Amino acid sequence: MSNYHIKHLEEYFQVYRKSVQRPETFWEEIAEEHFVWRKRWNKVLDWDFKKPEIKWFEGAELNITENCIDRHLPTRKNKTAIIFEPNNPEEPAQHITYGKLHEKVCRMANVLKEQGVKKGDRVCIYLPMIPELAYAVLACARIGAIHSVVFAGFSSNALAARINDCECNMIITSDGSYRGKKVLDLKKIVDVALKTCPGIKKVLVAKRTGNKISMKKDRDLWLQPLLDNAYADFDAERMAAEDPLFILYTSGSTGKPKGMVHTCAGYMVYTAYTFKNIFQYKDGDVYWCTADIGWITGHSYIIYGPLANGATTLMFEGVPSYPDYGRFWEVVQKHKVNQFYTAPTAIRALAKENLDYVEKYDLSSLRVLGSVGEPINEEAWHWYNNNVGKGKSPIVDTWWQTETGGIMISPIPFVTPTTPTYATLPFIGIQPALMNEEGKEISGVQVDGRLCIKFPWPSMARTIWGNHDRYRDTYFTAYEDKYFTGDGALRDAVGYYRITGRVDDVIIVSGHNLGTAPIEDSINEHPAVAESAIVGFPHDVKGNALYGFVILKEVGEVRDRDNLRKEINQQITEQIGPIAKLDKIQFVSGLPKTRSGKIMRRILRKIASKDTSNMGDISTLLNPEVVEEIHKNSL
Ligand code: PRX
Repeated sequence: MSNYHIKHLEEYFQVYRKSVQRPETFWEEIAEEHFVWRKRWNKVLDWDFKKPEIKWFEGAELNITENCIDRHLPTRKNKTAIIFEPNNPEEPAQHITYGKLHEKVCRMANVLKEQGVKKGDRVCIYLPMIPELAYAVLACARIGAIHSVVFAGFSSNALAARINDCECNMIITSDGSYRGKKVLDLKKIVDVALKTCPGIKKVLVAKRTGNKISMKKDRDLWLQPLLDNAYADFDAERMAAEDPLFILYTSGSTGKPKGMVHTCAGYMVYTAYTFKNIFQYKDGDVYWCTADIGWITGHSYIIYGPLANGATTLMFEGVPSYPDYGRFWEVVQKHKVNQFYTAPTAIRALAKENLDYVEKYDLSSLRVLGSVGEPINEEAWHWYNNNVGKGKSPIVDTWWQTETGGIMISPIPFVTPTTPTYATLPFIGIQPALMNEEGKEISGVQVDGRLCIKFPWPSMARTIWGNHDRYRDTYFTAYEDKYFTGDGALRDAVGYYRITGRVDDVIIVSGHNLGTAPIEDSINEHPAVAESAIVGFPHDVKGNALYGFVILKEVGEVRDRDNLRKEINQQITEQIGPIAKLDKIQFVSGLPKTRSGKIMRRILRKIASKDTSNMGDISTLLNPEVVEEIHKNSL
């Protein structure tokens, strides 16, 4: 018996023990009994965190789409795989059955092949949350092309950087996207990006908004006619267990975004297993994750995890505030959603609005509520629990990362007793460790430290595309033989984990990871700016907001400060995207620096957070006098 579905706390402890004491046997049983393989593995696990090199199910062959689609056809052909809920509530929802999904994915796979895409090629997908996005992702997986989905809120510059980094030769996009009342011109963003992407040979364009766009001859093709003419079946490519499945970019604390590479077999096994248990999904349930597929949450828990379990997964195109703040709850009522997975920032935004928006709707179908992306504060937790869950739907506060591929620390609902703000216990197979400043593991309970993982798990990212050294340096050098998460955490008296936040220069704004360095680089490109530093400060909806300290060049005319602020934010919007805009910009004459020239962000963070009672020792600074000035003029 492989313990695929855990139902009691005692069973959790028993299975957890097994997964830690005999990980190979444990994962082998899960893989064997719950998935279809073209060829069996020779070895379950091979690993070395020094190199680092991690291989799961080596020698095995499979195609993840056969596990997500084909194997369900005999029993679930007419069952809904994807419910598409459009931005406009007046537009009818679509129920895409497993049979239909198979046909759509096969047609798309044939189109990709006809357009020259081969196994191992990188295909960029820049689409709104429409069914074509799911088809495109799965079609790539079916032919063995590596998808690189870029969130369709990123700017041309950010898109171009991601396309060029992994040398995509095709991009799949749409004429436009709907977000609430807005219609965004996605194709125009792509056109600008492609001016600096010589590798892109084909642009496939899905029709969504019908706005007028320009199509470049021989390069740009409308998708629909190609799909209509394509054959509706496609033999899935045989993939090796460790062949890349996708690349997904995440921000780093320095430099350009990191293209995290996930591979086929381990990712499939772990996302499917976590999905089943952490959402306690039962056949016939309707599951809804509100994330965008442009983020890892959407990859693992809208597409792969749910579909591998034959689930019904809802894809929502819109925003929580359109046509009003009741939209989420209207959708829950309409589709009788059983599991609902969202981010604390959305909960906080909705909690600010009138409770009538929630109470108007019948939410009795809900059984499990999820939270992801940032720490959930106590107030938001209670609001979610009382008003959405009515005190009877456990909240799973799921901690994980783009790099981990799947959920790492989380309660199992109806199994693990929950505590507000605690992600609680490690999931099966996950071995966390808290480390102190000296690099030693801290044992015992009621301790806090830096969160590491000491043993591989199947869905961990295997490398950073094109830069294995950076992968090693970022995750495996801070603590010997351990994966370092970049987060701090505490372990309480019963062994529950609470994530306390990033310990590096990544700031989480509205659940989105933002590295300080790329934003600072973008600000510094403004002709009036000499230098800048970004820190986060607490914000009641976004969790954190960005505060920029900017030194202006002393030459030229004196510019209006508010205009400059607008221009700086405009520059950030163009180069990264609106999510990276600064809430506050303070012009300063200098930045506090150590004698070695490093900016002391600790001090800036305190000033930005208005927490200046204890600034610590500033006497060792190169320029202690600027601290007083910055403090006095802080916003
Ligand atoms: O700091 C942690 C925070 O989000 C980071 C990972 O961000 P990303 O790669 O974008 O993936 C987000 C979705 C999985 C983590 O290092 N984080 C994520 N979930 C939680 C969290 N912080 C606290 N509690 C969580 N449940």
